[in-house]
Parts: sequence; C-alpha cells; structure tokens
Amino acid sequence: MIPRDTIQTIIETARVEEVISDFVTLRKRGVNMIGLCPFHNEKTPSFTVSPAKGIYKCFGCGKAGNSVNFVMEHEHYTYPEALKFLAKKYNIEIEEEEQTPEQIQELNEKESLFAVSAFAQKYFTDQLFNSEEGKSIGLSYFKNRDLREHTIEQFQLGYSPDSWDAFTKHALKNGYKTEYMVKSGLTIDKNGNKFDRFSARVIFPIHNLSGRVIGFGGRILKSEEKKAKYVNSPESDIYSKSQVLYGIYFAKNAIIKKDNCYLVEGYTDVISLFQAGFENVVASSGTSLTTDQIRLIKRYTPNITILYDGDEAGLKASFRGIDMILEQGMNVKIVMFPKGEDPDSYVRSHRSIEVEEFLTAGSKDFIQFKTDILLKETKNDPVKRAGLIKEIVQTIALIPDQIIRSVYVKECSVKMDMAEQILMNELNKLIRKKFRHNFKEIPDEIFDNFSEPQLEKKVEIDVFDTSYQEKDVIRLLLNYGQDEILFEQNDENSKPIQIPVKVSKFIINDLEVDNIKFKNENYQKIYEEYVKLVEEENVYDSKYFTYNINKGISKNSINLLTSPYELDDWENKKNIIVVTEKQKLKIAILGALLSLKGKIIEQLITENQQKLKQAELEERYEEIPEMLKRQQDLKTISKDINKQLGRVITR
Ligand code: CTP
Ligand code: MN
Repeated sequence: MIPRDTIQTIIETARVEEVISDFVTLRKRGVNMIGLCPFHNEKTPSFTVSPAKGIYKCFGCGKAGNSVNFVMEHEHYTYPEALKFLAKKYNIEIEEEEQTPEQIQELNEKESLFAVSAFAQKYFTDQLFNSEEGKSIGLSYFKNRDLREHTIEQFQLGYSPDSWDAFTKHALKNGYKTEYMVKSGLTIDKNGNKFDRFSARVIFPIHNLSGRVIGFGGRILKSEEKKAKYVNSPESDIYSKSQVLYGIYFAKNAIIKKDNCYLVEGYTDVISLFQAGFENVVASSGTSLTTDQIRLIKRYTPNITILYDGDEAGLKASFRGIDMILEQGMNVKIVMFPKGEDPDSYVRSHRSIEVEEFLTAGSKDFIQFKTDILLKETKNDPVKRAGLIKEIVQTIALIPDQIIRSVYVKECSVKMDMAEQILMNELNKLIRKKFRHNFKEIPDEIFDNFSEPQLEKKVEIDVFDTSYQEKDVIRLLLNYGQDEILFEQNDENSKPIQIPVKVSKFIINDLEVDNIKFKNENYQKIYEEYVKLVEEENVYDSKYFTYNINKGISKNSINLLTSPYELDDWENKKNIIVVTEKQKLKIAILGALLSLKGKIIEQLITENQQKLKQAELEERYEEIPEMLKRQQDLKTISKDINKQLGRVITR
C-alpha cells in the first residue's frame, strides 16, 4: 500500500514533459511540445504534450492522459507499479506502510514457494527429455499431439514419472522443505505419508506475468475412468486461480500487437494455437471466467474474442462471461467451433490460413451470437421473442459507455426488426433502475416521470414521426460536435493515413449534401445556430445553447446534453480507451445520420404508396407508371441505406 500523501507528492513532482522525454524526443511548439507518437506508427508528429495542463494527447491515435497514465500505457504497468517507477525516477521514498513480522514471514514464504515450483518444473522437464520413461511415454504423447520440440521447450512442458514419491524424494534430497512442497501442492501429506500429486502425468506449468512458475496442471495419459483427466495445483500464496490466465506470459506481447486476445478453455488449445502462429491466446483453464482475469487482459487490449467449443447447454453459461466482459467496458466477439472440434483439434486439422479465415469470418458480436442461439428457441412466438429482445437489452445496459450502448441498440433494432426508440426506452428503464439503486434517497416519483417501459405493450410507431432520429443527430451534434473522428485515406504513396474531421463539420456537411431539414422546429433552430457558429468560426460554448433566450433552444439543449440515458458511470468512463471510444463515436454518428435518412425515405415511400392508391381509386391511370417508378427508386435507396447501416454498425 502506497500512502495517500506519497501518491500526491509523486503526481505533483512528476512533470509530464520530463517523464515522457525519457521515451519520446519532444520539440517545443508554442506552449506545447510535440513528438512522434510512441503508441502508433507515424512519420509526422501528432503527439502533443501540454506542460501547463500536465497532459499528453495524440491527435493521430487519440491516446491521452497524464504522466502516470503515460507510464502505465507505455510500460504496461499497473497503477501502483507506475507510481513506484516514478517515485524511483524522482528519488521519492515510498515508506510502504511498516512491514510487520508476519508480512516479512509471508514474503519469505512466497519466495520459498517460487523456489520449489521452479525446481519442480526443471525436474519434470528433465524427466520428459532425458529419462527413458519420460521419452517413451511423455514426449511421444506430446509429439503424437503434433507439438514441436521447440514449443514443448518454450512452454516448459514436463513429465512426472509413474511412482509414488519420485519427485518428493528428489526435492528433499536437494534441500527443499516438506512444508513448502506441501503448501505448493506438489506433495500430498496424508497422515504423515508423503507422496507426489502429479505422478504418471504430463505436466503443464502455469506461469505468472513475469514468467515465474506458480502452479501446474497434470494430464493423465491413459483414459482411466476413475481418475480425473487433469489434476491441478491447489491455491497457494503464489497461485490464485481466479487471478491467473494460462499462457498470459507468452501471449502478452502478441496481445498488444494484435490488439486482441483469444480466450480458450484448455491448456492444449493455448499451445496449439500459439504454435500455429496465433500467439495472442490465453485460457481460463476450466474454471469460469472471473472479473480479475478480464482486467488482466484489459491491461493489454480492450478486445477479447472467445473461442467456444461447448454444447448448447454450455453456450448459455458463456453468456455470463460475455456480460462480465462488457461490464468492464471491453469489446467481445465470439467464435463457435463446429460440433466435436475444439481450437486444438481444429488447428491440427487445418492450415493456418484456413484457421485465420475461420477466426475472422466466424466471429460474431454478442448481439449476433445471442440472437442466433436464442432465436432457435423462440421461433415465431412473439412472447418469447419479446423475452429475447429484453435479454439482449439487459446485456447492452451493462456497457458503461453511452455511445457504445447506442450503437448496439441500433444493431439490435436492425437485427430484430424492432423500432429503435422502443429498445432505447427499455434500455433507459434498466439503466435508471441501476442508477436508482445507487440513489435510494431520491423519491421514486422523480424517476417514474421519465418515459414508460414499452416493450411489453404493443406500440404503434407513427411512420411519419422522425423526432427520435432527429433528436439523436442533434444530441450527437451538441455533445460531440467539437470532437474529432478519424477517416482513413491514402496519401500520395497510397499509404493509409488517418484524417481527423470535426464532428460538427461532418454532420453539417452530410445534411447539406442531402438537403435535409429537421421537422421539429426546435431541433432545426438548434441546428441553424450551430451552423452559424461553425461558419463564423466562433468558439463553442454549451452555455450559448443552454442559456439561450429562445426557450425552445435552451430547454431542448439542456435536455439533450443531460438526457436520462446518459446517467453515466463517470468513474468507469475514465478507463475507456480513447481510441475505441473514437471509433465508436464515428459509428454512432454515421449510424444516426443513416437512420434519419432511412426514416425520411420510409416516409416518402408511404406517402407515395398512398398517392398511388388514390390514383388507382380515381382512375388516373396515366399517372401510375411514374409513381411506380418513383416507388422503385425509393425502395432501392432505402435498401442501400439499410445495407450501409448494417455495414457501419456490425464492423
Ligand atoms: N480441466 C481440469 N480438470 C478436468 C478437466 C478439465 O482442470 N478434470 C481444465 C483444464 O485446464 C483443461 C480445460 O479444463 O485444459 C479444458 O478441458 P478439456 O476441454 O476437457 O481438456 P483439453 O484442454 O481439451 O485437453 P485434451 O485436449 O488433452 O483432452
Ligand atoms: Mn482438447
């Protein structure tokens, strides 16, 4: 534990420009300093440091933060690790609150456990490669499973001989204490009799983040019905199952590079995928996924792809894991393997390029995944279908970021063919419930004044009502107009480069191109004021809208800048990785504009249809061909918009 005032001292002393200069060459430009961004590849500097504000921001990739964040990001440190690093740089002493004799004892205890674990790993590996029994039974088993010698060495696999106490005796002879052999679980003490836990098994050592062995899994070689396929080390002072992921030490660099982590179930799945070149892979090793394990991955990437090989019953159990990942503000995709195949068997029977293809093409986002599974059960039963939608909305409600939530609502609306505003109302209801839970003292009436839940009721949506879509566009304009989104373009050497575009300019330009006006006069007024602001290049200040003398403008902008579904968890928000948020903001904006256009076209189609009917009724046949042609054109545009929308939100 680092004392609070020491943390304060460290933060005050560690000047952002000094900390960053150790890693990046910075040049002065005006009041700021700039350099080449260490977090993405670039040729012209867009990485900006503001000594006055104590922060850095890259305008290329969007990474931003203070000096502690920089060290965490750059060195992949945890918060306390980063503080210790900075304390060392500035010679700030951390009197880690007085260590008690028990704590010192515990430290020694840990080192003793590490020592006996390292010794055991070397023994098992030596047995595998050098003993007759190990070679003929263990090594040939691994080779039969297509593992190459280099892979076996890298993962430090081993073999424990078919004997009661070969390891225990060997360790004792080498001076290791029985106490630690038992505490680490390598030796079992039964009424004073000591014997080996892992005899007659091949051994998979489990490593911590820094590559030290902390535990083992041992797989049986013959299939004996009475014995478990795997035996694992028990929990100890150095091995806490819920906080460890098998393979993380080997995978972490690849996870950073690929900006994604594959999550599998078994030891052999990790090793096979790794050997085939998919190095960004870890396993939860048979236990159900924990929050600590998810946070461990989050240190390296916000993206997880679950590779799932379970049966239908097990699939539903995987829903919980998906929810937990989303709750951490991370993105999750799921790949389902064909019946009877697991990642290990699939990799062994396919070429790498086929595996790659399968992992990319087969990955679904959680909405697609859940819908595919649950839709099978619901068939056409409307009641069950409502239940399914509810279940998906419940999952969306767990996502801490408001923009990302709204993107998924759009996707769900398209996939389930259910009006977005109904889903949004349902979502808001759930979020308010969560929010209400945290603010028990606020009377219920205040919350109940918000919109009604509608999913259970049958709601007629007025096709001529675009207010929801208009509101979404204005909301994004007011909340994010001054932010930038990135568009990829090719430079003169046809290398892709990221061009930042201001959200306000983008929205205005897009609406002008299609000559779209808002039907709601207040939205139109807010929009016109914003356009004026942009044209006159005035500084944006939300007060200009919220304090506007025009009641329509002020009332609506206050409402939109603080709408109920933005009762956000701001604590969580700080942890969201800026790049992801930016990508999602772009999706949200493209999605909102397309939804508005889609709705307008829908209206035109309905209008035209009514005219068509009227013409038929009044026998004005000469007008009909033109109306039919228009109908067709509108339908084509509508289809095209829906296709674009699908592309935008399922990326
Ligand atoms: N597991 C375990 N104890 C068991 C069975 C499984 O601890 N009795 C854990 C192991 O970490 C195992 C994972 O669950 O790796 C997945 O189990 P399973 O799919 O049965 O094993 P595989 O890893 O596929 O092993 P193999 O391919 O050798 O059968
Ligand atoms: Mn397997």
